[in-house]
Amino acid sequence: MILVTGGAGYIGSHVVLRLLEESDHKIVVFDNLENGHLSAIETLKSVRDFDFVKGDLKNQNDLKNLFQNFDINSVIHFAAYICVEESVQNPRKYYANNLIGTVNLLNEMLDHDVRKIVFSSTAAVYGEPKYIPIDENHPKQPVNPYGKTKFMIEEILDDYDKAYGLKSIRLRYFNVIGADSENRIGESHRPETHLVPNILASAKDSEKVFNLFGDDYDTKDGTCIRDYVNIEDLASAHVSALQYLTEKNQSDCFNIGTKNGSTVKEVFEVCEKITSKKINLKINPRRNGDPKILVADNAKAEKILDWRPSKTLGDSIRTAYNWLKK
Ligand code: UFG
Repeated sequence: MILVTGGAGYIGSHVVLRLLEESDHKIVVFDNLENGHLSAIETLKSVRDFDFVKGDLKNQNDLKNLFQNFDINSVIHFAAYICVEESVQNPRKYYANNLIGTVNLLNEMLDHDVRKIVFSSTAAVYGEPKYIPIDENHPKQPVNPYGKTKFMIEEILDDYDKAYGLKSIRLRYFNVIGADSENRIGESHRPETHLVPNILASAKDSEKVFNLFGDDYDTKDGTCIRDYVNIEDLASAHVSALQYLTEKNQSDCFNIGTKNGSTVKEVFEVCEKITSKKINLKINPRRNGDPKILVADNAKAEKILDWRPSKTLGDSIRTAYNWLKK
């Protein structure tokens, strides 16, 4: 049985959907529903039934009961706070949940002889890029507590592998966008800080202005460049990672991105085209902590996991807009 922590959240729910549809694995989702959605769990259950446990990684007893009650043999770990800016203002929250919560989970795994985990890591482990595209060997100098917690966990995973033989695949996501192409689940954060949902919210509501942060970067049109990877492609990467872990029993890390960068203005233009709306745009000063460019070198995932992105930026924006309208 696969344990999916944070399976009611944006990325977790799309991975659960893929596992329900394309495998016969039994699944238990563990989520405290602070940012996850019970409605996503209900929708997913209509695809194929699975177990859901409401609980918190900060509570070791919740974890103990979980591992006692279910026959878990591998873990996909999403549950984490994800807001970079909040992590700077309130690092305690991030270290308590993302870091200590994960150590609690790893220790419970060891106590029950579970030694396989796919971990949600992030491009934020690299910090300010020294070269582009960023490969997995790029120096890791995260510049905010969010990225630091993810990097520290990667280091802990190394130590747990050496000492206890706990094997992990860490997937370092770049900018994840889009929704299920059948429009059953999608992205919904409160507050929403991400680019595509914010542009589309302004497309849907003509009163709403889209705030663009910074058009004076040293890039072709002055706005930041990011590597936008589709959520369904990302879900496939998790399936490949789990398969690799099962077959090879070997730890590794992979960038999950497309190797293509788009500027904020380019994304804005694709959104206008797909929605056929003229979107209100306001140029604001730069947002704190935004690197000017982040683009993945994804050759390692292609070569070793046989994973490659299949969807375009337009595909992702179309599904995100369908979801928003629903
Ligand atoms: N942006 C705007 N207006 C908005 C939202 C974003 O102009 O309303 C700009 C940002 O300034 C940035 C780009 O759009 O230049 C992308 O911003 P996002 O907030 O969508 O994504 P980030 O690149 O900041 O963050 C993503 C993930 C984080 C992760 C980070 C580093 O969402 O969880 O990459 O890996 F930590």
